Amino acid sequence: MAYNRVDAEVIAALRACLEGGELLTGPDDLADYGHDETEDLVHPPEVVVRPRTTAEVARIVKVCARHCIPITPIGGRTGLSGGALCVHGGVGLALDRMDAIEHIDEHNLQVTVQPGVITQVLMDAVAAKGLYYAPDPSSKGSCTIGGNLAENAGGPRAVKYGVTRDFVLNLEVVLPNGEIIWTGANTLKNATGYDLTRLIVGSEGTLGVITKAVLRLIPLPTQSRLMLVPFNSATQACEAVSAVFRAGITPSAMEFMEREAIDFTLMHVEGITLDVPDGVQAHLLVEVDGHHADVLMRECETILGVMEAHGCGEVLFAETNAEKDMLWKLRRNVAVAVKAHTVYKEEDTVVPRYELPRLLAGIKAIGNAHGFRSICYGHAGDGNLHVNIIKAGLSDDYWEEGLPGAIREIFALTVSLGGTLSGEHGIGLVQRPFMDIAFSTTQLAIMQGIKDLFDPTGIMNPGKVLPTQKKEAVR
Ligand code: LAC
Ligand code: ZN
Repeated sequence: MAYNRVDAEVIAALRACLEGGELLTGPDDLADYGHDETEDLVHPPEVVVRPRTTAEVARIVKVCARHCIPITPIGGRTGLSGGALCVHGGVGLALDRMDAIEHIDEHNLQVTVQPGVITQVLMDAVAAKGLYYAPDPSSKGSCTIGGNLAENAGGPRAVKYGVTRDFVLNLEVVLPNGEIIWTGANTLKNATGYDLTRLIVGSEGTLGVITKAVLRLIPLPTQSRLMLVPFNSATQACEAVSAVFRAGITPSAMEFMEREAIDFTLMHVEGITLDVPDGVQAHLLVEVDGHHADVLMRECETILGVMEAHGCGEVLFAETNAEKDMLWKLRRNVAVAVKAHTVYKEEDTVVPRYELPRLLAGIKAIGNAHGFRSICYGHAGDGNLHVNIIKAGLSDDYWEEGLPGAIREIFALTVSLGGTLSGEHGIGLVQRPFMDIAFSTTQLAIMQGIKDLFDPTGIMNPGKVLPTQKKEAVR
């Protein structure tokens, strides 16, 4: 079986699906929707369709099913594993026009949204009612809830509040045959059958198209304290992380940045001033939040004690909101800064929190053995370390042929430490060849069986997640 190309007949059929939606075929539009933030990869669709309603999505999917055209759901295009790249061409299903916040239910602390809502827009809308949607990926100003759901995005606040999946109650999904289902119920508890909601979250658009989500909200914390803690030893910084939790504190963020992550960000991002003394190798950015200033003060004292016991330098407490914003800007722009600086590959390693020092040491040892430099940063409290491997000085040949072997070693290390391949960026296109490190053939066969059950003809976001897809046609 082979996929068909999008020809004039398919375009006409797609046009007929649309009421308020839009169809784009211009080369600039196709190029625009042909990339996300993953490396420098470009895989344009043959046509972009921007529906406004679930009914339109269902009709579009039916056309694709009938004509055997691959269909790739596209969100804010901020992904870091290539989940939204149209590797087989076909229809790029851009959900950015479905951006309504339909209902904020203040009685039940729930919100119903369409997938194209920008995450920050949702956070602001519920904050105006004293409510909190906590998952906050660094790209929250431009990523969408649909993309966050597809990739099970995390972010700094996940360490206290959980990742996207933990905020999802119920999803409306258009299946690959065009049928529309809800996955669960709008309840906080649900012990009713298999959990299709959790299955769809993180499935990276390979099982269906999420067209609506009912999300859980919590009361908005009214107070926070933020501190930047320098260390002359990156290992000691990592060791301090689990010690804070053992001291009885759950911070609302516990972020790690190697010195170079900060140096690159200061170099490439405007409006941040920070004096980093010589000798400082790493920082922890630690936040506590809640509703009572005195409680937070006591928590900060405990954290400070732990940090000092691990040999920290002089701690910077953010005194004003402007200072807090600046420190968060520094942290949230590391990925952007590294990308501006150099060609790189990013791995999203994750291990149980206490193993973080061993993960960092192991990655550096692999780098030394293979002759590559890495810049590491990330959500230390979750044991989630982003490893940016820098191309500088490495040959194109090594980059393409040699480096995957080194990346395999990094992933083998994470798995040997009880971790896995991705904490929050997903598998998408680029981590697919490494899935065998985390899963046995039996486990992969179960996943393939699920994929086949949902998508027997293999049209829904082909070429993603699973290392081989027997229904994935090659043209
Ligand atoms: C971050 C993104 C890259 O943590 O996950 O900044
Ligand atoms: Zn991250």
